[in-house]
Amino acid sequence: MLSYQHGYHAGNHADVIKHLCWLGVINHLKRKNKPFTLFDTHAGAGLYPLDSEQAQKNKEFETGIHPLSGISANSELLATYLSLTQDFLAHQHYPGSPALAAAVMREQDIAHLMELHPGESNALNAAMRAVGKDKNVCVHHRDGLEGLIAMTPPQPNRGAVLIDPPYEQYREYQHIADTLEKMFHRWQNAQVVLWYPLLSARAGEKSGASEAMIKRIARLGTTAFSAELTVADYADDTGMYGSGVCVINPAWQLDKQLREALEEACAYLGEHTSYSLQWLKTEQGA
Ligand SMILES: C[S@@+](CC[C@H](N)C(=O)[O-])C[C@H]1O[C@@H](n2cnc3c(N)ncnc32)[C@H](O)[C@@H]1O
Repeated sequence: MLSYQHGYHAGNHADVIKHLCWLGVINHLKRKNKPFTLFDTHAGAGLYPLDSEQAQKNKEFETGIHPLSGISANSELLATYLSLTQDFLAHQHYPGSPALAAAVMREQDIAHLMELHPGESNALNAAMRAVGKDKNVCVHHRDGLEGLIAMTPPQPNRGAVLIDPPYEQYREYQHIADTLEKMFHRWQNAQVVLWYPLLSARAGEKSGASEAMIKRIARLGTTAFSAELTVADYADDTGMYGSGVCVINPAWQLDKQLREALEEACAYLGEHTSYSLQWLKTEQGA
């Protein structure tokens, strides 16, 4: 089943927390002059026109990137994210994770972008021809979790993984945890960013599945934290009331940067919006 299309959701609150975190990870990797490898296992279409029928259907960007664009941000990470997105928004587009990565990668870095949906994969190829042509970006039309195992450990083996599945099926949660267990046997120093939805009781068996998955994967690296952005008060019938990112082996002070960015962003994202960040594993083992 591949019915999910990110064009309906581009630039929403979930993209804000996910892309802030992914940019924070990449910018930390850039602090050393050594090359790195990125994997984006569920890359999507790469670039999203906000005037398209899909984006206009629910206008989710209106409660995500739009209230933030144009503000003068104090936090370093939020300012970086807004300055990058600004260039795309000026042309009525929102950049997906592949376009954001391509925009900040250096010539010695490499990114593997995986997308299984044939139409989205074609769109991703076209988007990368437009915005990633001078970068070392490889588009793979394949299952991203299977591709991740096949291509790890990478050369160079400094690097990071973004896992951003649609969670259309309940079994995806288990499959992601199994895949990360396998991956960490091969590539211990990977930084991983896993996006997950926060779902109320209305989601049935999926409610609580993110939390169980995070608990399982948080022990796989040396350290791990989760950061969450909630946009509605919890009620059994709310559906998706926010989302989070679990970061395994996060770079030094990524937590601080993300906290500052989310705190500042929350002030613009509506009165029911709030964030939290908690360490799930520290070097002391807590
Ligand atoms: C949430 S979207 C990705 C958005 C993108 N990461 C971003 O931030 O711009 C999830 C994507 O995963 C794709 N997908 C679903 N199952 C997949 C699989 N097994 N392997 C690779 N891609 C998959 C969907 O077609 C969809 O485009």
